[in-house]
Amino acid sequence: MLLTFLALVGTGRLFAQENTIVLHPDKANAVISKNIYGHFSEHLGHCIYEGILVGENSAIPNTRGIRNDVVKALRDISIPNLRWPGGCFADEYHWHNGIGPRNERPTMINTNWGGVTEDNSFGTHEFMDLCEQLGCEPVITGNVGSGTVEEMSQWVEYLNSDNISPMTDLRKKNGHEKAWKVHYWGVGNESWGCGGGMSPEFYFDQLMRYSNFCRNYNGNDLYRVAVGANVDDYNWTETIMRLWSKKSPWEQRLMNGLSLHYYTLCHGWDQKGSATVFNEEEWYSTLSKTLQIDDLINKHLAIMDKYDPSHKIGLVVDEWGDWFNVEPGTNPGFLYQQNTLRDALVAGINLNIFNSHADRIAMANIAQMINVLQSMILTNKEQIVLTPTYYVFRMYKVHQGATLIPITVQCKDYKYGNGSIPSISASASKDATGKIHISLVNLDPNGVNEVSVDLGITGKFNIAGEVLSSKAMNDYNDFNKLPLVVPVMFDKFKLNGSKLAITMPSKSVVSIEIAPR
Ligand code: AHR
Repeated sequence: MLLTFLALVGTGRLFAQENTIVLHPDKANAVISKNIYGHFSEHLGHCIYEGILVGENSAIPNTRGIRNDVVKALRDISIPNLRWPGGCFADEYHWHNGIGPRNERPTMINTNWGGVTEDNSFGTHEFMDLCEQLGCEPVITGNVGSGTVEEMSQWVEYLNSDNISPMTDLRKKNGHEKAWKVHYWGVGNESWGCGGGMSPEFYFDQLMRYSNFCRNYNGNDLYRVAVGANVDDYNWTETIMRLWSKKSPWEQRLMNGLSLHYYTLCHGWDQKGSATVFNEEEWYSTLSKTLQIDDLINKHLAIMDKYDPSHKIGLVVDEWGDWFNVEPGTNPGFLYQQNTLRDALVAGINLNIFNSHADRIAMANIAQMINVLQSMILTNKEQIVLTPTYYVFRMYKVHQGATLIPITVQCKDYKYGNGSIPSISASASKDATGKIHISLVNLDPNGVNEVSVDLGITGKFNIAGEVLSSKAMNDYNDFNKLPLVVPVMFDKFKLNGSKLAITMPSKSVVSIEIAPR
């Protein structure tokens, strides 16, 4: 329903206001898991090699081969977790090949991604070192498609056991005396597709076998993530959950999360469209398809709730983001795409939706962290570019671990052609210090949006804001150029009692911090 009323703002100018957001601080109780702000790094194109690992002898400043500029940038957005080694790659990865002296590691062909030779120089120890440098939780996806139960079981033992055993001896011989504590464990990836073309019934049996032999060591209970649905494959969710619900409580503990993969495609898989050259029709199409993830989440959660009313299983959206054609002239198997203001809005909308499902979403991982799909960072030899998506993660990091404040949004539509979508996406939370953070996206590329936010409280506050926008909807940050899409200070707001009137520029992401004085 559209609300239209007159409001007085700023210098006394009257305007017709049609957008209202009401915060319900009295209903705040779900904590937004920091893991919703997770990332994904696959052995794909230049994500791992060049993007992360440059080698100890590189002229690019590095720590044990891992580039320092990338680590610093990712620490600045408080990266909470990192998923590795795939993706499709995970189901042909044999971890034994990625340990020991680097020059003795066997090579393999990366058949999923460009058919290039993988030299296994980035393996378990390098990944765990990266996570330690980033200060984030590792999320490891084991190989169900072409690996064995024994192989996966030994990987967990190698990583997590402090006992005396051939695996722990091997780890010590490779230079790591103490066990790590890897908590998040993916049991395969896309087993309905690149991970083995399995039916949900067959996969569920595999899940029980593999999970059973991934043991808990040293009081570290694994959080086992089962392969979940592709987009709207509700039958997959239904079957996995139904089979799970029939298991004994002991066996039910072998599955803690169920994944969901959804990529935003501007057109479709055959013709994904350019990441940088697009018109308003494609802007509209990309954003409206982004919004569809809310419906997918609601429907998958409804099925999960039917079999799991006490919410033992969390939803893990461990691949999301937009997927466009590769940049002209780059290897089609490397999925390298630029990142514009449109991607920033895609990120903001997705994160608002994930925040709003804080009670059920345990983790989400944008695909992918560097040089692949909707990246945070692009690298070119010694240079790096921080993308508009990166800046959205920086603006939204305040929500990590904060308590979700439920909101009601009433807004005018953004119309294009015969279609229309809400022009505003938003979420709000309260952090441990009592500060309220509101994140808003104005999807309309043509119009300023006046928004009245009812905070649900009154008092004395210090209010600060940041905005990310740019002149053109396809502006992006590029090597050797001044960055075009960077957040700047924002002060187009005015508080009157409990009402905060905000003037959002067209096609923008705005964050507001409200600190009690
Ligand atoms: O992120 C690229 C690929 O997309 C992943 O490897 C796979 O899981 C998905 O299909």
